Amino acid sequence: MRSLQNVLVTGGAGFIGGNFIRVLLEKTAEFSGRIVNLDALTYAGNRASLEDLEGPYGGKRYFFEYGDICSRAAVEGVFEKYRIDTVVHFAAESHVDRSILGPEAFIKTNVMGTFILLDTARKYWRDSGGALRQDVLFHHISTDEVYGSLGETGTFSETSAYDPRSPYSASKAAGDHLVMAYHHTYGLPVTLSNCSNNYGPYQFPEKFIPLSILNILEGKPLPVYGDGRNIRDWLYVEDHTRAVWTILRQGLRGEKYNIGGENEWENIKVLHVLIDIAARKAGLDPEKLRGSITYVTDRPGHDRRYAIDCSKIKRELGWKRELGFEEALGRTVDWYLANPGWIEGIRTGDYQKWIEQNYEKREDGMGELR
Ligand code: NAD
Ligand code: DAU
Repeated sequence: MRSLQNVLVTGGAGFIGGNFIRVLLEKTAEFSGRIVNLDALTYAGNRASLEDLEGPYGGKRYFFEYGDICSRAAVEGVFEKYRIDTVVHFAAESHVDRSILGPEAFIKTNVMGTFILLDTARKYWRDSGGALRQDVLFHHISTDEVYGSLGETGTFSETSAYDPRSPYSASKAAGDHLVMAYHHTYGLPVTLSNCSNNYGPYQFPEKFIPLSILNILEGKPLPVYGDGRNIRDWLYVEDHTRAVWTILRQGLRGEKYNIGGENEWENIKVLHVLIDIAARKAGLDPEKLRGSITYVTDRPGHDRRYAIDCSKIKRELGWKRELGFEEALGRTVDWYLANPGWIEGIRTGDYQKWIEQNYEKREDGMGELR
């Protein structure tokens, strides 16, 4: 088992990165080191998602650094300051629809940002003889979307050819190729995981499940793209973050691991289940809610079906999904019902005011505390 000391989590103020930091802090028997969250707090980053950790852990085990992974000075500064030995790279532009409207930010962060992180790790992780250390690890978080779209049958395995079809998935694929290139060319110790669709607490309400939950609770129209029969493989975020933890500890250098829920659903069916769960929990009329389902223009180039073969991580590292879909969807609905303040902050835009109030952006891409 690999041991970790100073872990750099990029994009920890986002959905999966934030959930991962929580899992890491619970691993007290195996990990007592420091977690540094480097995040540029884009629209998807929300410091309020981790505010409760700052009291017990802030400045002791948990450190927030406001900065951009595209800035070499910012990334080098963090490596130096915290003597990073493990990188878990979540930071990305993550929403497919936004990548169609404006791809540039995706290329910057997902390609250039990944490159800067890799290159800094290569520069910083040298031993006294100049060789690359092998007790360190760069773990890259990627997506099943790099494999393209499936027909009615088949699954993506680790050896499936890359065939990205949106600016988002193309930018993630480019990042993945750089990660493997740094391993093969320079010997950088890397692992890479490609995961299916996540859902759970703290997911920004632009994505299908949280958007639908909030629209159900507010009696708004429920948009479904195209014929609603596109298929995604859904995994509860906590199951994903546990898989990442397993890879950090046991994953083999240079290896890729697919992570999935073995849980394929047509979008329209997901929506019907969500309606049933949310109606039950919030005392709403499910039949009236079904009347709010609105078929809208399809996403351009909308991938039809994703399905992940995750037998490698199950067989080789002993990971498996723990939560069933309906139980975990129930937990997710409960979380959104119990956290109106988090939602309100996003609705009003107040969640971003904290940055302006507390930080000044410096030329080197880092934020300076006011
Ligand atoms: P998210 O959009 O919720 O969060 C992204 C985070 O990255 C935000 O906190 C944002 O502020 C930060 N960020 C963006 N650009 C940055 C930059 N230049 N410098 C520093 N920080 C920056 O994303 P998510 O859904 O949590 O996804 C995390 C990772 O997991 C991504 O790499 C994504 O591709 C991958 N992934 C997501 C899913 C999913 O279903 N959400 C599934 C598989 C893989
Ligand atoms: O597969 C992993 C990917 O899953 C991640 O890499 C991405 O970061 C993440 O955003 C997610 O991508 P999707 O495009 O699959 O997720 P999204 O929630 O945007 O959409 C899920 C499905 O629901 C998709 O087929 C489009 C559809 N959809 C989405 C929205 C927002 C709708 O029908 N209506 C909607 O309003």
